[in-house]
Amino acid sequence: MTQPLLEVQDLRTVFTTKDGIVKAVDGVSFELLPGETLGIVGESGCGKSVTALSIMRLQRPGKILGGKVMFKGQDLTRVSEYEMREVRGKEIAMIFQDPMTSLNPVFRVGWQVAEPNRIHQGWDAKKAMTSAVSMLQRVGIPSAASRARDYPHQFSGGMRQRAMIAMGLTTTPQVLIADEPTTALDVTIQAQILDLLRTVNKDFGTATILITHNLGVVAGMCERVIVMYAGKIVEAGPTKDVFANPKHPYTWSLLKSIPRLDEDRHEPLKPIEGLPPSLVDLPSGCAFHPRCSFKVERCSRDVPALLRVGETQLAACWVTQAGTELKGA
Ligand SMILES: Nc1ncnc2c1ncn2[C@@H]1O[C@H](COP(=O)(O)OP(=O)(O)OP(=O)(O)O)[C@@H](O)[C@H]1O
Ligand SMILES: [Mg+2]
Repeated sequence: MTQPLLEVQDLRTVFTTKDGIVKAVDGVSFELLPGETLGIVGESGCGKSVTALSIMRLQRPGKILGGKVMFKGQDLTRVSEYEMREVRGKEIAMIFQDPMTSLNPVFRVGWQVAEPNRIHQGWDAKKAMTSAVSMLQRVGIPSAASRARDYPHQFSGGMRQRAMIAMGLTTTPQVLIADEPTTALDVTIQAQILDLLRTVNKDFGTATILITHNLGVVAGMCERVIVMYAGKIVEAGPTKDVFANPKHPYTWSLLKSIPRLDEDRHEPLKPIEGLPPSLVDLPSGCAFHPRCSFKVERCSRDVPALLRVGETQLAACWVTQAGTELKGA
């Protein structure tokens, strides 16, 4: 069996707010295998970004209350801040949801892309800049040598996103976490960025965690997918199996809410009824039960564990764990 590159075990991250404790990540466990692209999907506020930030230990003001993030024999939740900085710069890179917050407006783009190699590999400015320019070129910035002298505001949204990717990749990390790398971009640029991530995955063998709202993106990019709801993983498995035969009613509803191009369907799309719950005050039992059309009595009482359902999938659902198929309206 392939050894996982990154292993997240029972991770729990909370925020203390005036309304109470927000359980943003509530017992999340998953593995990332070498070279794979793993998707994380779920409605806004379900804990995708906080999961990624917790892996990087950038979850502040949130607090990691428990769990492990195993990477190369070390638990990243326990290493010193100094060691963590080495990991962040070199081995695990993250592309943040908003590229403007992670590019510094007062430094030239090339200088920033070169920074990880200056700091972590000890390269001199010239060598680091040469490598930054070639990386900017690789991610498709035209006239990279001269554009490297631009400031972030002189770049378009798509170019900033590319610069972020270039910065993340200069040290050829083993893991790349891309948090909604295409949301703010128009469709053509989106497609280009996804192509770029595919190339990176193939050429550098970088294992990628791709966080997105877009199930089409998952279908086109990810071998495996994790579905989150209210801070927990509710379903996980190979993308083709999860999409063909979802084992959690939430996944089932998400898939039903997207239009299918290959079907002549005239019925209106069905959005998932109701809203995600407040993470301060979760419903009893399964957090999805108030919105679930398959629920049984037990669902409002006991929290289901994430267990194997069928050959390849995991689901946290009393109904499918009891062998019921998800069908009908
Ligand atoms: N700094 C913070 N203070 C308090 N609560 C926070 C903070 N950051 C995140 N949260 C809460 O943690 C929960 C998970 O947020 P997270 O950003 O991980 O969601 P997400 O799944 O990435 O959503 P989106 O798809 O909108 O990016 C949300 O309820 C959010 O309100
Ligand atoms: Mg997010």
